[in-house]
Amino acid sequence: MELYRSHVLICGGTGCTSSGSDKVADKFDSELKKHDLDKEVKVVRTGCFGLCEVGPIVVVYPEGAFYSRITEEDVKLIVEEHLMKGRIVKDLLYDDSVKDDIIKSLSEVEFYKKQMRVALKGCGLIDPEDIDEYIAIDGYRALAKAVTEMTPEQVIDTLKESGLRGRGGAGFPTGLKWSFAAKAEGDEKYVICNADEGDPGAFMDRSILEGDPHAIIEAMTIAGYCIDASQGFIYVRAEYPIAVKRLNIAINQAKEYGLLGKNIFDSGFDFDLEVRLGAGAFVCGEETALISSIEGKRGEPTPKPPFPANEGVFGKPTLINNVETFANIPQILLNGPEWFTKIGTEKSKGTKVFALGGKINNTGLVEVPMGTTLREIVYEVGGGIPNGKKFKAAQTGGPSGGCIPASNLDVPIDYESLAQVGSMMGSGGLIIMDEDNCMVDIAKFFLQFTVDESCGKCPPCRIGTKRMLEILEKITSGNGTMEDIDNLEILANNIKQSALCGLGQTAPNPVLSTLTYFRDEYIAHVKDKKCPAGVCTNLLSYEIIEDKCRGCGLCARSCPVTAISGEKKKPYKIDQDKCIKCGACMEKCPFGAIIRK
Ligand SMILES: Cc1cc2nc3c(=O)[nH]c(=O)nc-3n(C[C@H](O)[C@H](O)[C@H](O)COP(=O)(O)O)c2cc1C
Ligand code: SF4
Ligand code: SF4
Ligand code: SF4
Ligand code: FES
Repeated sequence: MELYRSHVLICGGTGCTSSGSDKVADKFDSELKKHDLDKEVKVVRTGCFGLCEVGPIVVVYPEGAFYSRITEEDVKLIVEEHLMKGRIVKDLLYDDSVKDDIIKSLSEVEFYKKQMRVALKGCGLIDPEDIDEYIAIDGYRALAKAVTEMTPEQVIDTLKESGLRGRGGAGFPTGLKWSFAAKAEGDEKYVICNADEGDPGAFMDRSILEGDPHAIIEAMTIAGYCIDASQGFIYVRAEYPIAVKRLNIAINQAKEYGLLGKNIFDSGFDFDLEVRLGAGAFVCGEETALISSIEGKRGEPTPKPPFPANEGVFGKPTLINNVETFANIPQILLNGPEWFTKIGTEKSKGTKVFALGGKINNTGLVEVPMGTTLREIVYEVGGGIPNGKKFKAAQTGGPSGGCIPASNLDVPIDYESLAQVGSMMGSGGLIIMDEDNCMVDIAKFFLQFTVDESCGKCPPCRIGTKRMLEILEKITSGNGTMEDIDNLEILANNIKQSALCGLGQTAPNPVLSTLTYFRDEYIAHVKDKKCPAGVCTNLLSYEIIEDKCRGCGLCARSCPVTAISGEKKKPYKIDQDKCIKCGACMEKCPFGAIIRK
């Protein structure tokens, strides 16, 4: 490999690309050329660093200077000051990365302190389009070890000993699943990577594929070796174009290097991979629906058993795992199962990647050891709630999960503890809510999502979730009764028990968990006809506080329905019958005289 005096790492993840990192990278290329530095300084377009909110991100090594929100215009300064004169441009560094004039390394930045990168190891570190960079960080060594030094049983035993559980939602033990697929009888077998990722707010799997696609190829090939499959499919949604592009590049490179194809590492083992595109239906992430979709049929779930391990794609034994699950496997084989079991809790080993979003200062991608508490994630990694607001709840597990209230902030994040507080790990969406969020409205949001995404095959889900949504709409519009709350709960429990697939079985969870922890908010909507968080439009009223009103008339001029009247220099009034609750007056009043109740 060629030697460079500096490396400029530019994030090429979806977040930073959408804020212009491509142009920043091109500008670095052209500026470095202009100064004849392109042989001394290497520009690397990496995957996500995690702090997508402050992108585009640029990190310059060897100093580890962590620049954020970099524009094309900033590039000239970084090249001329930092790369030519050795002077770090402090004004462009990420806020938290300079303290008392000392530049902190990336691992000392508050956001990264509690994090541990296992599944995200290569993301933000290597060029995902260059197989040599993956090999330079030990890539494909685990595959070599597996196929040349270990029997399939030994690899599977290693996974069993590691305690790795599936990261796609339910947390099924990975080694056990591999042993089922290995034992299943079949002339042909398949390996599938589930990269459908349909949860609203989730982008963990996308980031791994964009930042480290070879890790998935390597792990799937190991899986092929273990279960005696020679063909694999990566099922990825078409809305992930960067991930798809990098996967295809990586597959071609692996083929060129003989790491996919015939007689891998001279072991006599053959394995090939194909990318299959999904159209972005949430239900296609469910394994039986995904299999139907790969077969070219409608993406509808089928009853289990038979499980895919026995009867999967084209009726053949099929191993299906999530992207993040696969990403852990080369690391486990290289570092040993004991290393992995030391991370995490007794029953949940290793780390978990979360897409942290909502009312939180550091939105982005985080990877923490299992057992890290919700409080640590919110306040230390996430940097707390913006604008000094109070934490109200965290939604984990997307539409299949539930809301965790402030009283449970100290819950350790692992499969069992989350289930105990009425939520679930799910795939890793973690949405934070503050006092301005209405929990009934949140439940309605997730239910609307399930209603839209239900495939309609079974009545409990097709009809039941729609009825639940109607009740929630009735409550949030101020027409609900106490009986509606009871019916909502009965319906939710019935759907949970009778729906055919995981989508319907978990759809009631956001409603049930908000009913458990925030029932008073439901009651306030029903009995007092009030939305305590001030979100549900029908239950709001805008009022002018007489003492504060100076009679300037600005509000009246901004009201689109002339609901405000008054005389100059006297308190104005709102006609509640005319008001359409748009909030324009409150925004306009310079004296804070209008309140929303
Ligand atoms: C409605 C629904 C959507 C799902 N979506 C995904 C998904 O996007 N990605 C995923 O890996 N698993 C998803 N799952 C879980 C898969 O069915 C399956 O359990 C998982 O891919 C197994 O991999 P693992 O053992 O590595 O977790 C979904 C399940 C349901 C019920
Ligand atoms: S539970 Fe919903 S998504 Fe699943 S099969 Fe039934 S209708 Fe389709
Ligand atoms: S909330 Fe909108 S409609 Fe109502 S009084 Fe204010 S400006 Fe007029
Ligand atoms: S804008 Fe404020 S101060 Fe002016 S009339 Fe309206 S309520 Fe009163
Ligand atoms: S996409 Fe750039 S930091 Fe996440």
